[in-house]
Amino acid sequence: MPYRFRTIIEPFRIHSVEPLRFLTEDERRQKIREAGYNLFRLHADDVLIDLLTDSGTGAMSRDQWAAIQHGDESYAGSPSWYTFLEAVQELFPFPHVMPTHQGRAAEKILFGAIGGPGKVVPNNTHFDTTRANVEFTGAEAVDLVIPEGREPQTLHPFKGNMDLVALERLLAGRAADVPVVFVTITNNSGGGQPVSLENLRGVRALCDRFGVPLFLDACRFAENAWFIKLREPGQADRAIPDIVREIAGLADGMTMSAKKDPLGNIGGWLAMRDDVLAERCRSLLILTEGFVTYGGLAGRDLEAIAQGLRECVDEHYLRYRIRSTEYLAEALDHAGVPIVKPAGGHAVYLDARALLSHVPPLEYPGQALAVALYEAGGLRGVEIGTVMFGRHPDGTERPASMDLVRLAIPRRTYTQSHVDYVIEVVTAVAERASELRGYRILDEPPQLRHFTARFEPLGAGR
Ligand code: F0G
Repeated sequence: MPYRFRTIIEPFRIHSVEPLRFLTEDERRQKIREAGYNLFRLHADDVLIDLLTDSGTGAMSRDQWAAIQHGDESYAGSPSWYTFLEAVQELFPFPHVMPTHQGRAAEKILFGAIGGPGKVVPNNTHFDTTRANVEFTGAEAVDLVIPEGREPQTLHPFKGNMDLVALERLLAGRAADVPVVFVTITNNSGGGQPVSLENLRGVRALCDRFGVPLFLDACRFAENAWFIKLREPGQADRAIPDIVREIAGLADGMTMSAKKDPLGNIGGWLAMRDDVLAERCRSLLILTEGFVTYGGLAGRDLEAIAQGLRECVDEHYLRYRIRSTEYLAEALDHAGVPIVKPAGGHAVYLDARALLSHVPPLEYPGQALAVALYEAGGLRGVEIGTVMFGRHPDGTERPASMDLVRLAIPRRTYTQSHVDYVIEVVTAVAERASELRGYRILDEPPQLRHFTARFEPLGAGR
């Protein structure tokens, strides 16, 4: 149905509110210094607008809270499990579905079963936990997104697409070493950019040719499907669940974080067609997550996810969701702030390398910008760049392909005036970007260093 009015409203009204705590700029400077200039180490009460992640931070609906009351906590064969299974298979009709406590648990189990030294896993872009789980087994993780996906300013309707030529080259040389090809929808680390159906069909054809299974990292499948409906020729009249089922039909399995599109505060799953692989994964599931009908989740969580899955494919919701992200991106773009274009589904990515061109990548321009946004306005975004991806398993450090700051939009949580405030803060910080200094790392763990590393600002005058 064509939309008659220009303003796209939040398709809900507010039923229960959470107060925000206001600090002064001086108080925030103190807090971030105490946190070793790492935004992950802050007390969340000290953050005004928390755009750290869209993961598990969405507001649940009345119907999800009601579903929680139906949670049945039977150890085996809970009715909540069957409700969950039905909701998952309605969209992703894989015969084997294993609930996990979140997405990375599904990754750990899958790569534990099929990874290992000498193996190589291609993906459009591995998310950080996915890469870490691949590398933890001794396998190699390679990112094969199309070249446009690495260029923040280049417009392309499906910047998350896999580079089919590069994938073909890899498979032609090493298919026997490739246990699985992964496609991440939407491509989070590359800017929340979608993958087209046409590209997925191309990946499928290559996987068929070389006899390699195709799995989806499908955290933001509904947002990806909405982009397909909007942007891909011939898709405009299709229902979102129908597009999702076609995507699922092209794959052999999936890992999933239910903390994103399915509007859960926790949860995930691993699903697949292969009976033999499923048996191996189930054994690992029981070792680390739980029995096969709850896998690390309470019955009430399974119920909340099942209801969330029905809500996240609603077109009024998706129109509002994608428009609110685009609204933030448009305003920042008009203000001259360099961002990844076009806007992604769940987040706006500030191009810190462009904005802080005086800060070299190994002095972490993304970190510098993220800290400045917190100090100035209490915003918490996350660096997605050299801090997150610069350290390699062999101990070397190299600049990541981009230095971004992600402002992720929690689902149904903030209103348009919150977003207007964000626009004002980012614009003000961007205006004095040339004054911002880089950082150095004081201490860091060997893996996933961005979560816990401590930083020190480099002195003025460098
Ligand atoms: N894959 C992608 C594409 C993700 O974005 C995430 C999580 C995961 C896998 C892992 O799922 O957190 O449930 O274990 N992304 C969050 C983020 C953390 O902030 O982007 P998880």
